[in-house]
This record gives sequence, structure tokens and C-alpha cells, in this order.
Amino acid sequence: MTKRGGRAAAGVAVALLVAGPAAAQNGQRTPVFRAPVISDTGKLAGPRQPIFFRHDVHAGQDQIPCLYCHSTVAISSEPGIPAIQTCFGCHQMIAGSTPSHQAEIKKVREAWASKQPPHWIRIHALPGFVRFPHMRHIKVLGTESCLTCHGDVRMMPQVHQVATLTMGWCITCHVQRQVSRDCTLCHY
Ligand code: HEC
Ligand code: HEC
Ligand code: HEC
Ligand code: HEC
Ligand code: HEC
Repeated sequence: MTKRGGRAAAGVAVALLVAGPAAAQNGQRTPVFRAPVISDTGKLAGPRQPIFFRHDVHAGQDQIPCLYCHSTVAISSEPGIPAIQTCFGCHQMIAGSTPSHQAEIKKVREAWASKQPPHWIRIHALPGFVRFPHMRHIKVLGTESCLTCHGDVRMMPQVHQVATLTMGWCITCHVQRQVSRDCTLCHY
């Protein structure tokens, strides 16, 4: 079921979307988030991935939209995990500002050069007999709804599962939102 596809890189423009004073339009001040320096990665929740890819750096500090990388979340059951080509689109030029960033980004470049994409460890996984279409949920709950089910990934140095993903969890929201609870909705 795991489709680790991706789409072609769309350039580096988004990397320059770093929050700055310009975000103070409409009288709203968006506080600039700085991802922390992490000295002990062993204490982080969630599995250690082959490359220490940080959501708090990319989606938090640099504000790259979730859909830039999970580009099929609103149109398909599977959100998609970006291809290494998408990473390299930026990291061909961005080498990293600290020694630890540079060491991890080197792995991105090596993966690209050797055509050996990283084997990302899957974190959220329902049993095969359950159907979960992302696009149906995003259509109703919106593209900003990721945190409802995944927690605030923008603050996570390493992604971990926040919701239980049990049947009771699904049903609770379906009851609240008056969505069907027919067994066949979720079970084949
Ligand atoms: C839109 C541009 C962009 C894309 C796409 C992108 N990155 Fe980055 N990445 C950055 C920026 C900016 C930094 C911060 C560099 C610094 O200041 O050290 C960074 C930092 C990193 C770092 C070091 C910090 C950390 O996260 O541990 C790693 C490793 C990394 N990127 C891996 C990846 C991987 C893997 C992908 C693809 C899944 C990817 N990047 C896609 C822009 C991008
Ligand atoms: C620069 C690319 C990039 C951006 C931007 C990005 N992600 Fe990811 N995401 C990845 C990669 C690569 C993985 C697989 C490695 C990992 O788990 O860290 C991943 C994994 C995940 C996972 C865990 C998947 C699993 O295996 O269960 C979730 C949930 C997730 N992302 C949500 C988000 C959300 C929500 C946002 C926006 C706030 C976001 N991502 C922004 C690249 C990105
Ligand atoms: C209503 C709850 C819900 C919402 C909203 C939601 N997700 Fe998920 N997400 C899940 C569940 C449940 C899974 C596990 C699905 C499975 O195993 O089939 C999952 C899995 C994922 C995965 C891993 C899939 C893979 O192929 O490795 C990623 C990445 C992800 N979600 C990203 C996102 C992003 C980005 C958003 C927001 C645009 C989002 N999700 C919104 C519930 C949700
Ligand atoms: C945060 C609220 C929320 C959670 C949690 C949630 N859902 Fe839903 N779900 C919805 C909403 C809202 C809809 C209605 C979409 C529509 O009207 O098209 C929906 C619709 C569905 C559908 C019907 C899609 C279709 O084709 O009509 C399925 C299947 C489904 N959800 C499965 C699940 C499963 C499985 C889980 C747990 C792993 C889950 N949902 C968790 C809110 C949620
Ligand atoms: C909104 C989605 C949803 C609906 C509706 C739903 N289920 Fe489930 N069901 C799940 C999910 C997700 C799991 C897997 C997680 C778990 O075991 O809690 C599951 C697991 C199960 C299991 C396996 C439990 C186990 O311990 O292995 C059975 C049996 C089951 N469901 C029966 C039903 C029946 C009967 C109905 C109708 C009355 C129903 N389900 C309706 C989402 C749903």
C-alpha cells in the first residue's frame, strides 16, 4: 500500500519563503520560529529515519507548505512522500548552515548521486482491511487540517504518531461531524 512516489522538483523559490518582518501585513505579526539545535537525537519521539529530515526546519522555520512535498494529499488516498529529486531541487544549492545540517544534507546529495533513495520508515499505518481516503477528509476539513490528526508536525524534529488511529478515534469524529458510521464505509 505504500506508494513512495513523488513529483518533480519545482525549484528553490519556496526555500526563500523564510518568515521575516514582511509577514507583518494586515496588522498581523507572525512570530518567527527558529528550530532548536538538537544535541541528543536519541531522546526524540518517533523512529529514526535514514536521513535526519526535520519537519520543524522545513515546515516550521522555513514554512514550506505541507502540500509542496505531500502533493497528492488533496486528490488521492495517499498523501505521497516526496522523491529525492524534490529534495535535491533545493539541496543542490543549499548545503546547510551548521556542521550537523551539512552532514545530513550530504546524505541527500549522495542518495541523489547514487540513485539510492532513502527507505523512509512508515509511521502511520492502518491495517489492510481499513480504507482511509485522505482526499475526502481534506476536501471537507481543509488543507490546514493535518494537525487535527497528526499533531503539530511543524514543531516536530522527528515525526511521531500522536492520535491512536483506533476505530473508536475515527468513529468519535464521524459522530461529531455527522458522517456515516456504516461498517462498509471503512471496511471492505
Ligand atoms: C524548498 C526547499 C527545500 C526542499 C524541497 C527540501 N529542503 Fe531540506 N532544507 C532546506 C533549507 C532552507 C534547510 C535549512 C538549511 C540550513 O540553514 O542549515 C534545509 C535543511 C535540511 C537538512 C538539515 C536540517 C535537518 O532537517 O536535519 C536536511 C537533512 C534536509 N534539509 C533534507 C531534506 C530532504 C531529505 C528533503 C526532501 C524530502 C529536503 N530537505 C527538501 C530547504 C529544502
Ligand atoms: C520538504 C518536504 C516536506 C514538507 C514541506 C513536509 N513533509 Fe512531511 N514528510 C516528508 C518526508 C521526506 C517524510 C518521510 C520521513 C519522515 O517521516 O520524516 C515525511 C513524513 C511525514 C509524516 C509521517 C508519514 C508516515 O510515515 O506516517 C507526516 C504525518 C507528515 N510528513 C506530515 C506533514 C505535514 C502535516 C506537513 C506540513 C506541516 C509536512 N509533512 C511537510 C517531507 C515533507
Ligand atoms: C482525518 C485525519 C487525517 C487528516 C486530516 C490528515 N491525515 Fe494524514 N493520515 C491519517 C491516517 C489515518 C493515516 C494512515 C493511513 C493509512 O495507513 O492508510 C495518515 C497517513 C499520512 C501519511 C503517511 C502516508 C504514507 O504513504 O506514508 C502522510 C505523509 C500524511 N498522512 C500526511 C498528511 C498531511 C500532509 C495532511 C494535511 C494536508 C494529512 N495527512 C491530514 C489521518 C489524517
Ligand atoms: C477529525 C475528523 C475525522 C476523523 C478523525 C476521521 N474522519 Fe473520516 N471523515 C470525516 C469527514 C468530515 C468525512 C466526510 C467527508 C465527506 O463528506 O465527503 C469523512 C469521511 C470518511 C470516509 C468516506 C469517504 C467517502 O468516500 O465518502 C471514510 C471511508 C472515512 N472517513 C474513514 C475514516 C477512517 C478509517 C478514520 C480513522 C482512521 C477516519 N475516517 C477518521 C472526518 C473524520
Ligand atoms: C470510521 C471508520 C470505521 C467504521 C465506520 C468502522 N470501523 Fe471497524 N475499524 C476501523 C479502524 C481504523 C480499525 C483498525 C484499528 C482498530 O483495530 O481499532 C477497525 C477495526 C475493526 C475490527 C478489528 C478489531 C481488532 O481488534 O482487530 C473489527 C472487527 C471492526 N473494525 C468491525 C467493525 C464493524 C462491525 C463496524 C460497523 C458497526 C465497523 N468496524 C465500522 C474503522 C472503522
